[in-house]
Amino acid sequence: MVERILADRVREPSRTIGRGQASVNIALCKYWGKRNRELNLPFNSSLSVTLPGMDVETELLPGSGDRDEIELCGPGGTLPDDAADRVSGFLDLFRPRPDFRFRVRTRSSVPPAAGLASSAAAFASLVRALDDLFQWRLGPRELSILARLGSGSACRSMYRGVVIWHAGVRNDGMDSFAEPLNIGWEALRIGVVMISASRKGVGSRPGMDHTVETSPLFACWPETAERDLAAILGALEARDLERLGVAAECNALCMHATMIAARPPLVYWTAQTVTAMRTVWELRRAGCPVYFTIDAGPNLKLLYAAGETAAVRRAFGEIRECAPLAANE
Ligand code: PMV
Repeated sequence: MVERILADRVREPSRTIGRGQASVNIALCKYWGKRNRELNLPFNSSLSVTLPGMDVETELLPGSGDRDEIELCGPGGTLPDDAADRVSGFLDLFRPRPDFRFRVRTRSSVPPAAGLASSAAAFASLVRALDDLFQWRLGPRELSILARLGSGSACRSMYRGVVIWHAGVRNDGMDSFAEPLNIGWEALRIGVVMISASRKGVGSRPGMDHTVETSPLFACWPETAERDLAAILGALEARDLERLGVAAECNALCMHATMIAARPPLVYWTAQTVTAMRTVWELRRAGCPVYFTIDAGPNLKLLYAAGETAAVRRAFGEIRECAPLAANE
């Protein structure tokens, strides 16, 4: 696949340093489960919004020595060995020679592995840095396919705003790419309720494989997700918060239901996660339209309109808030 995308482009670095930047994305319709593990091909299409300000910046240089040097600056400290191995494994796809080493310097404004999709932003920014270092000048679709090889959801971090990742049907994965949708929504807010910034126990990669292999509920997930995606897209186009919130919350809970039914069960929630969910439902009962989505971690991401910020802060404290679609309107 990499050969096909790079075709006759140069394989030696064209400059001394390559730079890339990308922001995290939050899926409103989730990707969970791979039909092909090596190529990160999903069973279902998914849809996300990119969160500006929650960024990963990567600098990439030719390295020396007998291994890649991978350095992480920013909150969360150093990269765990398994994450560094994953980056090195991904870089294997692009080495001009087997003994060629890279030096990767990554600065992140979000803690890694806390269910905030920081790995998506990391791989998307790494692919941009590769493109810059080698001066391939690939188009966004090709870049999104390369990012997908690092981490599935990374293909969506290649763009701002609302982004759809088409699952595709081909075995070679060339039709499984992300694409931006031009949807603006000035008033939409996403607030991150940080319940824990510590590393999660089971990464999304083994977590989804385990769910696919053992959960009796997984069989109905791909079809459910495709239906949810249509509902979420319609709600975004209509700027209908209630429809969007209900569909996104339901989609996230369905994804977690497949994991909870896995054997042994896979539960990313803590007691505080459930308490925060109940707070959201109580707020709604009290007339405050706020909804949540949740990834493979304990933290909630709230969806609400700008006018509800004060009520949300009263209930959840100083949450990190952003207006992901304001620039698109
Ligand atoms: O791309 P991965 O392997 O980090 O998986 C992402 C999985 C979820 O965050 C739970 C859902 C999604 O679509 O982002």
